[in-house]
Amino acid sequence: MTDKFLEQLRQIIDQQYILTADHDKEPYLTDWRKRYTGKALAIVLPRTSSEIAKIVHLCASNNICIVPQGGHTGFCGGATPDQSGNQIVLNLKRMNSILQIDEANQTITLEAGCILQNIQEAAAAKGFLFPLSLGAEGSCMIGGNLATNAGGTNVLRYGNTRDLCLGLEVVTAKGEIWNGLKGLRKDNTGYDLRDLFVGSEGTLGIITAAVMKLYPLPISQWTTLVAVDDVRSTIALLNLFQKRATSLLTGFEMMTNESLVLTHKHFPQMGNPLKGNPPYTVLIELSDHESEAHVRQLLEDILQDAFESELISDAVIASNLSQANAFWHMREHITLAQAEEGANLKHDITIPLSALDDFMRDTDALIRAKYPGVRIINFGHLGDGNLHYNIAAPQGVAPKEFNRLNEKPIHELVYAQVERFRGSISAEHGVGQLKLEGLRAHKGEVAHELMKSVKRALDPQNLLNPHKVVSI
Ligand code: FAD
Ligand code: MLT
Ligand code: ZN
Repeated sequence: MTDKFLEQLRQIIDQQYILTADHDKEPYLTDWRKRYTGKALAIVLPRTSSEIAKIVHLCASNNICIVPQGGHTGFCGGATPDQSGNQIVLNLKRMNSILQIDEANQTITLEAGCILQNIQEAAAAKGFLFPLSLGAEGSCMIGGNLATNAGGTNVLRYGNTRDLCLGLEVVTAKGEIWNGLKGLRKDNTGYDLRDLFVGSEGTLGIITAAVMKLYPLPISQWTTLVAVDDVRSTIALLNLFQKRATSLLTGFEMMTNESLVLTHKHFPQMGNPLKGNPPYTVLIELSDHESEAHVRQLLEDILQDAFESELISDAVIASNLSQANAFWHMREHITLAQAEEGANLKHDITIPLSALDDFMRDTDALIRAKYPGVRIINFGHLGDGNLHYNIAAPQGVAPKEFNRLNEKPIHELVYAQVERFRGSISAEHGVGQLKLEGLRAHKGEVAHELMKSVKRALDPQNLLNPHKVVSI
């Protein structure tokens, strides 16, 4: 049966793009964090949406499931196949053309396999900003960003990937091609199909192309690091910037001292320029289309206010682009430092800002009482109320063994706290296989059943990425 299936596949797509040898498949079978490894009948690398439509038909008639895959940088195991060996991985990296930049409409139309950084650069070359930005931008793809509704560091000003998307082309689970590639900012023709596919993590359809919004490229940008004593002051500082800088505020990232000490340990060139290891370091960015001097003056005035109200105790303003980049690199390297340190328990959560301080105080206390010596590595997009609340094994304890024993109860403890404070157990990373159980337990029964009905309606054969997000 497998041989016959592969033979039929070769009639759709050239055999050099169907990888079946173990050493060829291997790079596609394990996720970025090396947490999940699966098996696949083949890795298939299509070039067009009509090839994908034919592949879907063939898989449907052979009961073979499809795992869509982009850069495979996701944190929830969504793009990793299962152990059944009855799945193909459909990696979209060959569909990497930028189809059009429409300057009047301020939109870019592109195929799903375009790498995020290439999109940013193509937009900048025409004087536009494509604002989606995240640590994995050198390898993640826009199809994956859309499928996870990725967040990143510019959400405060420009929104999540969903907010940047105007239109999609999708191959459905029935093998039809839905062409919704319209660059419209208003379109109330019934149910929002685009928004249904955005964030569906490859479980409802395969995104093959998209129309995304562009913005004028800012001409001035100032980045600063400030020292703060506690979460309450950090939120007051955010509110001060929101009030005084309004839409010029494009970044507001919080890093605890523990996260920066870890980053410095693994990347010694990345030291915190603020003296004395403050409990919290906040990276703030203002950008605008006014002159550099105007924005700089505004930043200095706000910082002056913050000093006077004792919200901050120190500040360093980047004097040039390379120093600003160094500040951002330090922030982005926390994840890489965590990976170097060994597996840790990640919680990508949102809490209403008004409750964040209480959440952290309470949850830290519960965790420390139950798991003495654990390291809590917190950082995140504080401007969005999005905290990366990560738990690492105590010094000297093997992370794998610690996680094996404690992963489930720690996740449950944190998620129960998230529910108590009316937050979300997945702010920006999605659900995949990691949070399948968490979603079932915390989404609420009515919402969970509705999600399953949507999955059944769009993919009755459970062909696309089964047992990710919801199980039917
Ligand atoms: P993949 O990992 O390949 O896939 C992710 C999911 O989307 C899977 O379920 C897959 O089946 C599905 N999928 C992929 N392509 C398609 C398609 N064309 N059609 C349908 N389904 C598809 N995420 C954030 O939100 N914010 C961050 O700040 C952030 N920072 C990161 C930093 C680092 C260092 C790393 C490694 C990751 C980070 N991530 C972040 C997570 C990750 O980069 C994002 O989730 C990203 O959007 C995934 O894109 P990808 O192309 O790698 O998708
Ligand atoms: C980030 O904000 O850096 C990413 O979401 C990665 C992470 O959570 O580690
Ligand atoms: Zn993040």
